[in-house]
Amino acid sequence: MFPERRMRRVRRRIIQPLLRETELRKTDLIAPVFVDESISAPLPIASMPGQSRHPVEGVADYCERLYDAGIRAVILFGVPGAKDCEATGAYAAEGVVQQAIRRIKERSAGMVVITDVCACEYTDHGHCGIVGETIDGPDLLNDPSLALMAQIAVSHAESGADIVAPSCMLDGMVQAIREALDAAGYEDVLIMSYSSKFASALYGPFRDAAGSGFSFGDRTTYQINPGNAREAVMESELDAAEGADILMVKPAGIYLDILASVRGLGLPVAAYQVSGEYAMIKAAAERGWLNERAVALETLTAIRRAGADLIITYFAEDAARWLDEEQ
Ligand code: PBG
Ligand code: ZN
Repeated sequence: MFPERRMRRVRRRIIQPLLRETELRKTDLIAPVFVDESISAPLPIASMPGQSRHPVEGVADYCERLYDAGIRAVILFGVPGAKDCEATGAYAAEGVVQQAIRRIKERSAGMVVITDVCACEYTDHGHCGIVGETIDGPDLLNDPSLALMAQIAVSHAESGADIVAPSCMLDGMVQAIREALDAAGYEDVLIMSYSSKFASALYGPFRDAAGSGFSFGDRTTYQINPGNAREAVMESELDAAEGADILMVKPAGIYLDILASVRGLGLPVAAYQVSGEYAMIKAAAERGWLNERAVALETLTAIRRAGADLIITYFAEDAARWLDEEQ
């Protein structure tokens, strides 16, 4: 073949923009936002440099700033003032997330508000739903937790959420939430399911940020073992069949094979670049070992290339600015 097939021809500087296969756009990015009921000023998160918990009174300001930077979607996580064993704060009409949704929508009507639907920030034991005895000892109970997820999702919809995102990895969660939303008249609210969510050690900084660590056991009886690819794809297939509008793979960067498979199912796919992925890049950059901007944009581009339509990332605001600068 050589020299007829010269690949360097297609990489001439003037040709490259014409042949770019993967584009990263600001509208592909979703910014995670932590809202804390107990603070009155932003509180930096030590393990996630550049990220803070925001007070309820300040969350609309922060989201307006994100909107002005070109970010069009946020996903909210609540840090409640009090916890109990049944996560009652998760569906309270005046709960931290419910208040935050209303304030953000009042200020920035064009911002798509997504809510994380889970109980782990609201339970005193830190698990993602109702716990009790199982044949293997105390653990997260599946079916008794479904009504709780439905109740949380409906309360978010009542407050104005556009998309609810169940992250508890319970069997049947999407169907239970869809039925409850429809019954309450919210058939236009989307479900973005954390459909292929792994039991990853990369959630560590998030659990500090959201105060959602567990007091016993772990999450390996509901989240997927990192080595299991076919099981992960089946999880997304089932959620698609239950009526999910958007599927998700989480974490993102070290699960690109899963992302490529889930893309093949046909529904829109989101990928969650999680707290640990962010923290690793930040820490290396702080030491001068990596170029933060270049590495962050490379990871986001690779996640898009593997098949993500949307990326939840703590780099969202910075990436929006970097993308503007590249124009
Ligand atoms: C709650 C939830 C978690 C994350 C998103 N929603 C933590 C967990 O499952 O323990 C992780 C996000 C991140 O690490 O950035 N179920
Ligand atoms: Zn949870």
